[in-house]
Amino acid sequence: MATKYVNAVISEEQNENSLPVLDGTLGPSAVDIQTLYARHSLLAFDPGFRSTAACKSAITFVDGDKGILLYRGYPIEELAESSSFVEVAYLLMFGDLPTPAQRQQFDLAIGNHNLLHEQVLSFYRGFRRDAHPMAVMVGVVGALSAFYHDVMNIRDANDRQLAAIRLVAKMPMLAAASYTYSVGRPQRYPNNKHDYATNFLQMMFGTPVQEFAVDPVLARALDVIFILHADHEQNASTSTVRLAASSGANPFACIAAGIASLWGPAHGGANEAVLKMLMEIGSVENIPKVIDRAKDKNDSFRLMGFGHRIYKNFDPRSRVIQGQAKKVLAHLGKDDPLLEIAMRLEEIALKDEYFIERKLYPNVDFYSGILLRAMGFPMNMFTAVFAVARTAGWVSHWLELQEESHGIDRPRQLYVGKTLRHYPGGK
Ligand code: SDX
Repeated sequence: MATKYVNAVISEEQNENSLPVLDGTLGPSAVDIQTLYARHSLLAFDPGFRSTAACKSAITFVDGDKGILLYRGYPIEELAESSSFVEVAYLLMFGDLPTPAQRQQFDLAIGNHNLLHEQVLSFYRGFRRDAHPMAVMVGVVGALSAFYHDVMNIRDANDRQLAAIRLVAKMPMLAAASYTYSVGRPQRYPNNKHDYATNFLQMMFGTPVQEFAVDPVLARALDVIFILHADHEQNASTSTVRLAASSGANPFACIAAGIASLWGPAHGGANEAVLKMLMEIGSVENIPKVIDRAKDKNDSFRLMGFGHRIYKNFDPRSRVIQGQAKKVLAHLGKDDPLLEIAMRLEEIALKDEYFIERKLYPNVDFYSGILLRAMGFPMNMFTAVFAVARTAGWVSHWLELQEESHGIDRPRQLYVGKTLRHYPGGK
């Protein structure tokens, strides 16, 4: 059968085959193909969604060619420099920076909901001690849907806001408990005299037997990490949350699905994979071999922390994290040879035709592991830290989706399987 083509021409002329072009406030316009199947019995084929806008959103804008990332219009560099994670969470969830009174109310709400129900802590005992923290978080956050199901009406805006606040507020204790359980340490509780990042660090590394003074430089570095990882438009885990939410599923169950998707090494799991890769490289002398492997089509090895579906220029977050890594290492008087390997790897790769041609740059995960390791986080907690931060973005998209009514997300397919056939000897 001869190949047929749709010759799409963008013009102001309208006819019975026309499809409207929708303009956003920033970024590429979109051809509205919602009626394509009904009118022409044609589907659009876009595995991986490279050219698909799955929804309208006003939360985050990314310009991958210019290395621009805006949260509700504010540049990520300015927020990382001058804001705090809790203020950014408010901005993402409600659309504007909070007034002092709104911020005070939000702080109070976070402080009222940052404790876990004591029975939730018993769930951790069902896991092996060596369970990966992300496996634990998928399970425990999913289990929270059992605690907040019948008491919540997601059709009610106040109930939705409370669910979103509960999730942002509880994530630090949920994540810290997945670590302290693995090392057999009793779980400390949040203390509302601390800010969000400080509370997380004291729950992670403090013990009940003595006061634990959190280093303010480390607390600030963690707050910046949280800001940088809070949202990133329709990435895989956020799209997972939105898809689950479109069926009306419990928000805790939707966030558990997002955690599961984030865990993958192609996504949020890359920060842990980067550190393992740098440790395997071991010294700058081994970098050329690694670059060759990354370029070898017959080798499944990829340079972890490099490349991005959207950023075809630098990832603005990577630069801020590299700066924080250097600052924290200097503050601690530590010297991490892996930072030198990472910087040398970046320098060599960015001069190599393979990476230049494919526009592969370090992404948010390339330096974050070095910074988290300098702060004392074990490698298997890196993605859990990412999940704590991204919960702010996930709940913001969950809230945004509740306001629109395009119904359940139900993609179609290009069927390439067997045509009709009958069971042998059937009646
Ligand atoms: C995050 O989407 C988001 O916004 C994600 C995120 C967020 O904040 O939510 O930014 C967080 O997930 C960052 C990405 C972390 N993942 C990694 O660092 C894993 C390593 N990176 C790759 O797996 C890859 O770059 C992806 C998954 C990030 C992007 O993959 P794409 O867009 O599907 O790119 P591709 O596979 O089509 O690659 C294009 C070419 C291919 O070569 P050719 O077939 O054209 O010859 O580039 C090559 C790829 O082989 N390539 C790499 C590479 N990444 C792409 N080659 C070596 N090393 C790499 N890392």
